[in-house]
Amino acid sequence: MLNDSTARYGSVSKFFHWVMATLLAWQFLKFFDRISDGEHWVGENLVPYHVSIGTVLLLLVVLRLVWSIRQSKQRPEPENASRVLVKAGHGLLYLSMLLMPISGIMYLVGKGYGLKVFGMQLIARGEEMQWMADLGHYHSPIAWVMLVLVAGHIVMGLVHHFIKKDNTLKRML
Ligand code: HEM
Ligand code: HEM
Repeated sequence: MLNDSTARYGSVSKFFHWVMATLLAWQFLKFFDRISDGEHWVGENLVPYHVSIGTVLLLLVVLRLVWSIRQSKQRPEPENASRVLVKAGHGLLYLSMLLMPISGIMYLVGKGYGLKVFGMQLIARGEEMQWMADLGHYHSPIAWVMLVLVAGHIVMGLVHHFIKKDNTLKRML
């Protein structure tokens, strides 16, 4: 089933959720640049795709938002949890999925480096724009906040499955 239903998420929502979760986990490997200045296997083989994957994630989150709004009338409702808290948590995850690539692009373009995605120069190198670079500096603090949000989200998913023993995780699998 492509569409969601009140009983479970459909294949399009599951595709967005799990493909983006995998790519976002890959993006978090950028934290490994803090170890030996990235001079290790992860830094040399996985982190170099950071800008390209991050830009793909921006496109994916916009499509996912449009899809989730179209499905909003027929999505599963939170089980054994406060509706307000669940909606707020998922809303903050969406906000961070948007702000991460936007701030990353502002960081590079603001510093005058332009934007190169999978070898294609999408935004040419140019003048430095201090205000944009300043906003781009929020990329790192937002990444830390998002890491905490994602960790909390995963813990809650596992609590529902193993402790509350409800269908919350199953309907996203
Ligand atoms: C959802 C997408 C993204 C995620 C989750 C993400 C995550 C991260 C993380 C975790 C760091 C390390 C921060 C630190 O060590 O404090 C980082 C740094 C960085 N990211 Fe991203 N990023 C994303 C998208 C992008 C995009 C699209 C670009 C550029 C077009 C970009 C450019 C950078 C740059 C230049 C740095 C190093 C600068 C710094 O440490 O402040 N990122 N990112
Ligand atoms: C970076 C990683 C992740 C992000 C950004 C994320 C984000 C989201 C968002 C926004 C939703 C709301 C539904 C939607 O609009 O798609 C959701 C639902 C869900 N996620 Fe994640 N997720 C991530 C990883 C995970 C992981 C690893 C698990 C495994 C425990 C998980 C378990 C769930 C479950 C069970 C739901 C359904 C919740 C419900 O029906 O109330 N997520 N996720």
